[in-house]
Amino acid sequence: MSETSNAGDPHTRVRCSVRVLSCVLALALPGVAPARADDPPAATGSAEVGAQRIKTAGCTTCHGRDGLSRLAEAPNLAGQVQGYLASALQAYHSGERKNEIMNTVAGPLSDEDIANLAAYYSSIKVSVTPPPRP
Ligand code: HEC
Repeated sequence: MSETSNAGDPHTRVRCSVRVLSCVLALALPGVAPARADDPPAATGSAEVGAQRIKTAGCTTCHGRDGLSRLAEAPNLAGQVQGYLASALQAYHSGERKNEIMNTVAGPLSDEDIANLAAYYSSIKVSVTPPPRP
């Protein structure tokens, strides 16, 4: 081994494993990872405020007050994971996710609106009955 090589240097090994660990943590614990500017808003919305906003924003026409689809192409939103709803709405808002209807609807929404709407639709209680096991 040449004198300039540091492959066996214990400090290098520690640095590598810390880097790997922080990667693993960022994947496993997104809430613990440092926030970035383009992260979706934290799950802090108010379902009560969202319940009012769905009426003025027109969401109910296609997704219902109960979060069940009223349109063949529209997904059900009832009981969906709050963080997923918020990221989906942010992606429509920014244009990162493309759908003519949802880009138009989400364009004017504020971060606060998005958090409240996500809180509302995720707060709807759903129950499921899986099909019988084969
Ligand atoms: C005119 C009908 C219409 C209206 C009004 C509407 N949506 Fe949608 N929404 C759709 C359709 C269609 C899709 C599926 C788009 C796609 O394929 O990406 C969708 C998709 C979504 C998704 C993504 C769901 C998923 O599983 O990825 C969310 C979240 C959503 N809408 C929330 C809302 C909210 C909140 C409002 C009110 C601010 C709203 N929508 C208003 C039709 C509508």
